[in-house]
Amino acid sequence: MPDQTLTKPLTKNICPQHKPPDIERYQDNGGYSGWRKALGMAPEDIVELVQKSGLRGRGGAGFNTGLKWSFVPRGKGSPSVKYLVCNADEMEPGTFKDRLLMEQNPHLLIEGMAIAAYAIEARTAYIFIRGEYHLAAVRLEQAINEARQAGLIGPDILNSGYSLEIYLHRSAGNYICGEETALLNALEGRRAIPRAKPPFPQVSGLWGKPTVVNNVETLCNIPHLIELGSEWYKSLGRCQDAGSKLFGVSGKVNKPGTWELPMGTPIREIIEEHAGGMRDGLKLKGFLPGGGSTDFLGPTDLDLPMDYDAIAKAGSRMGTGTIIVLDDHTCPVGLVLNLSQFFARESCGWCTPCRDGLPWVVEILTRIENGSGTPEDLDLLQEQVARMGPGNTFCALAPGAAEPLQSALRLFEEDFIDHIRKGRCPYR
Ligand code: NAI
Repeated sequence: MPDQTLTKPLTKNICPQHKPPDIERYQDNGGYSGWRKALGMAPEDIVELVQKSGLRGRGGAGFNTGLKWSFVPRGKGSPSVKYLVCNADEMEPGTFKDRLLMEQNPHLLIEGMAIAAYAIEARTAYIFIRGEYHLAAVRLEQAINEARQAGLIGPDILNSGYSLEIYLHRSAGNYICGEETALLNALEGRRAIPRAKPPFPQVSGLWGKPTVVNNVETLCNIPHLIELGSEWYKSLGRCQDAGSKLFGVSGKVNKPGTWELPMGTPIREIIEEHAGGMRDGLKLKGFLPGGGSTDFLGPTDLDLPMDYDAIAKAGSRMGTGTIIVLDDHTCPVGLVLNLSQFFARESCGWCTPCRDGLPWVVEILTRIENGSGTPEDLDLLQEQVARMGPGNTFCALAPGAAEPLQSALRLFEEDFIDHIRKGRCPYR
């Protein structure tokens, strides 16, 4: 009888002191029972169940996962070749949750991928993994081999007539490769630049075939969801958003880390209880709620629940759910400069506001941080923010880079002015 009281399905099999469970230990602990159950279900029913559960994509955008799967054409006249791609190119600044799942529980991802591929009727699946994630890649390769030897992937799985091959592809390395259409270009061996959407990949993706691209954490939610049902899954959340989520905290807190908690957990609880609060003598000045490409929020937002809509209403995004904390002894201009340098370096150069705008932003911020900025520089930054906004580029890199900048200009305006007035960084 499946355990309906399970509250931390993503980390159930994880014991940080031990190596990840091999296939025997994983199966002894209930692993692959979601996959066995799924094989007895109609693929459309799985899509419906996932859609009903309210699971939203954990890569950052929060799109309803079942709805995404439902866009894949099926039935007579639909293409016979379809693909599932797991986006494991985790590179968002401050984000280190998918690495934990892949290193510590690789079979959970393989099981989730098998169910997702079956649901969309794909027979080939790829894991596109960040090049630097060496240990995760080694452990995933091993898990793929073990699952294949156990007949849980490969030809005619458990005599069901369904076959699936899963391949691991290591990225040559660039942040833009995590954008789903640039990722598809990279997998095809082309230059990794984003494609225009629509058509969305679900209709025309890898080699022009219907393709679902899902994040690692999203797929890791699937096995237990199938086993225990959509009502159980919804009941895990403390808000209207369903399920549990890996939340992380970095910055000058006592215990930076990652924890599996209910969706809707208040930000204050995550920072003060789980991350152990601010280090001695430091005060929280602001935070990025969902990785480096989200808007800053301030101390008055600490009681917000980590749910997509609540954070959006407050003017930011839950993104990857990994909080970057800014303290009162760290320069906000320096922090935004650091992020902008990253985004400028990682731009693929395809769209002008990103290719030319981001280096310009870096130049202006460097000037301000080094004490040679002018009041006009603040207007120039605002102009760049407007140019990099949504609708002006093929993908979300430049609009994402604009988010911490625009909110820092608003929330920490005094700090920018102070740099210019004093002709130096007041934090040094
Ligand atoms: P998006 O909102 O354009 O799309 C999200 C997903 O929903 C995609 O798979 C897309 O195909 C699908 N989708 C959206 N609208 C659709 C429609 N009308 N019809 C069919 N499908 C639709 O967001 P995008 O550009 O894929 O991702 C941006 C997010 O990625 C940001 O929120 C950012 O937080 C996050 N991000 C995460 C990183 C990481 O390392 N995990 C790195 C960089 C960004």
